[in-house]
Order: sequence, then structure tokens, then C-alpha cells
Amino acid sequence: MKITKFLLISLFIFLFNSQTSFTDEAKMIKGLEIFNETAACAGCHILKAAGSEGNIGPNLDTVEGLNYASVMDIVTHGLGVMPAFGEDEILTKDQIEIVSFYVANSAGK
Ligand code: HEC
Repeated sequence: MKITKFLLISLFIFLFNSQTSFTDEAKMIKGLEIFNETAACAGCHILKAAGSEGNIGPNLDTVEGLNYASVMDIVTHGLGVMPAFGEDEILTKDQIEIVSFYVANSAGK
């Protein structure tokens, strides 16, 4: 009886953990696609991890203090010639979250 309970708990922890890392991995793959194709961030930004060489906007590998919240903010509202992907409904909220997760986790790598 005890062993069964232990196994069930282990299985649950295993499933829970693999689920979270799968989600993160899927976000990185989808985020790269949005960055390079759907939103074409690549056309304006350098990001080594994505192999992009656009030079209209700042090099995202060297932006100081870049994080998930700051990317979400600028992608939603835009700035200068950078489009407001959220306000102008160019991307969905999910796409903005995914591409921001991708950029925050690949900048400088
Ligand atoms: C048409 C060109 C263009 C496109 C497309 C574009 N950007 Fe930008 N981006 C810019 C410019 C220009 C700035 C600088 C704005 C300013 O400071 O006036 C900028 C700024 C940024 C910043 C802030 C950098 C800092 O210095 O804090 C981030 C992060 C960013 N862009 C990410 C993205 C992402 C992610 C996408 C795709 C969803 C994207 N950009 C698409 C031109 C672009």
C-alpha cells in the first residue's frame, strides 16, 4: 500500500515536471518562429540565437536590463518605428507572451 502511494506520487511529480519543461521548450520553438517569420522582429533586430541581423532597432543581445516584462511592454505598445503589435492587433496576446518569453530567454546567448 505504501509503495503504491510512493509510486503514484513519483509519477505525479514526473508528469508535472516534464509537462512544465515541455511547455517551455515548445514556447522557445514557437517563439523563434514568431520572431523570424510571423512578426518579422528579425528584420529590425540582431539576435544571435535566432540568427537575425536586422539593424533598424537595437541589438537585442546587448540591451541592458532586458527581461520578459520589458519585452512584453514594448511589443504590446511599440516605440518609435517599432510597431505596436498588441495595440494594433498584429499579434495575439498568446503570441506576444510566447515571443517575449523567447527573446527574454535567448538574448545574449
Ligand atoms: C520595423 C522595425 C522593427 C520591428 C519589426 C520590431 N522592432 Fe523592436 N525596436 C525597433 C526600434 C527602432 C526600437 C527602438 C525604439 C526606440 O528606442 O525609439 C526597438 C526596440 C525594441 C526593444 C527594446 C530595446 C531597448 O533598448 O530597450 C525590444 C525588446 C524589441 N524592440 C523587441 C522586438 C520584438 C520582440 C519584435 C517582434 C515582435 C520587434 N522588436 C519588432 C524596431 C523594430
